[in-house]
Amino acid sequence: MKPDTTPAQNRPKTYRVKSFGCQMNVYDGERMAELLAEKGITEAPEGEDADLVVLNTCHIREKAAEKIYSDIGRLTKGKIQKKVPMIAVAGCVAQAEGEEIMKRAPAVSMVVGPQAYHRLPDMLDKAVQGERVTDTDMPAIAKFNALPQRKRRTPSAFLTVQEGCDKFCTYCVVPYTRGAEISRPYNDLLDEARKLIEAGAREITLLGQNVNAWSGENETGRTVGLAGLIHSLARLDGLERIRYTTSHPNDMDDALIAAHGEVAKLMPYLHLPVQAGNDRVLKAMNRSHTAQSYLRLLERFREARPDIALSGDFIVGFPGETEAEFEDTLSLVDEVRYAQAYSFKYSPRPGTPAATMDNQIAKEVMEDRLQRLQDRLNRDQLAFNQASVGKTCDVLVERKGKHEGQWLGKSPWLQSVWFEDEAQLGDLVAVELAEAGPNSLRGVVREVATV
Ligand code: SAH
Ligand code: SF4
Ligand code: F3S
Repeated sequence: MKPDTTPAQNRPKTYRVKSFGCQMNVYDGERMAELLAEKGITEAPEGEDADLVVLNTCHIREKAAEKIYSDIGRLTKGKIQKKVPMIAVAGCVAQAEGEEIMKRAPAVSMVVGPQAYHRLPDMLDKAVQGERVTDTDMPAIAKFNALPQRKRRTPSAFLTVQEGCDKFCTYCVVPYTRGAEISRPYNDLLDEARKLIEAGAREITLLGQNVNAWSGENETGRTVGLAGLIHSLARLDGLERIRYTTSHPNDMDDALIAAHGEVAKLMPYLHLPVQAGNDRVLKAMNRSHTAQSYLRLLERFREARPDIALSGDFIVGFPGETEAEFEDTLSLVDEVRYAQAYSFKYSPRPGTPAATMDNQIAKEVMEDRLQRLQDRLNRDQLAFNQASVGKTCDVLVERKGKHEGQWLGKSPWLQSVWFEDEAQLGDLVAVELAEAGPNSLRGVVREVATV
């Protein structure tokens, strides 16, 4: 008897979207939620069962990708919610493994790729008739044009400006799951930004797999890069903060570096992945920058904005990485002193060149390297936070804290700050940073910010 795995066929009244990936995946999750809401389906309140569950997946590492099958299993066995919902699989695993998901998981009704989710409502119409539907087309711009107006009400909002990747780093699935690099048109972005501000956003983070590869024509017909877009957004009343992520070292231009010294609303924070500190490894990764050219870039950012907080991504245990080559990564970290960073064990991804390279590194070696790298990154993050103590800066209030009267927000350097005082969501509060931990700081409200 297998009644549990038959796709649900009633038109769903409530939905839940679970996003597992990067910020662009979160953005896509928000847009799918808006689409479903427009169809009259409401978000299931926390703790209550949803009729439709959208699993918005990530394919970047094996662990992230495998999670999807265990989640489907738990949903169909009633371990996540009492009622077995209709299940849609979206995101980058959907793109990479569309048909395989349909074969492996009979309980899934819809599989929709990251460039096709504007068609979710039509797919739903078919799914309620009992059809199982897959759509992994890649018409990126068509998607944006077909989406409803933004309604999201949060002080800090995401705005996807660029999608896809042409870089083909040898370890990475993104060029295959997200397709070629495209830039959304300038006017569409200003319109979406205005809608987000009207709905209450005071900070906008511009998103792209290679966000600094964005280019477009501004209102005078001139081609501008990301810096041009940032200058235009900075002129919008009501918007107080601008951020952007993730950049690639090779797409960096003078105007963007200069913008950090010119645009007060552009926050002093840069996420610039390096992946490794050794040039042979970087070449094998097809990164097309060297450790030196990367360090030189960071220097220029520090010249433009001396207090800029630096962040990066690292992979340890890329095929063939020797102990000495790994130590070059540690040296690079010692030189940069990151405010914050992400680091990962290399994970072989099907279809990528690195997955079939010789000299795959043993798991224990990777674990040891990751631990040693993270020890240094944690040391530097704590030191950065400690060096901020005594500064008074604006904190954008984003959430209530766990305790009555407690608020959580972000400093200009993207540190999490909590404080206790009168405040409202979306306020920019002048806060003195009083005490530093590894992951957050305690603040005390002051009259005016000095930074
Ligand atoms: N476009 C960005 C980020 C892409 S994915 C960039 O170019 O840097 C986010 C991070 O995941 C990458 O920076 C990389 O550090 C990590 N990553 C990507 N593929 C991976 C893999 N196969 N194994 C381990 N980490 C990986
Ligand atoms: Fe992946 Fe490299 Fe593209 Fe980043 S630049 S998304 S790591 S292929
Ligand atoms: Fe993951 Fe896709 Fe983002 S693979 S990191 S959700 S682009």
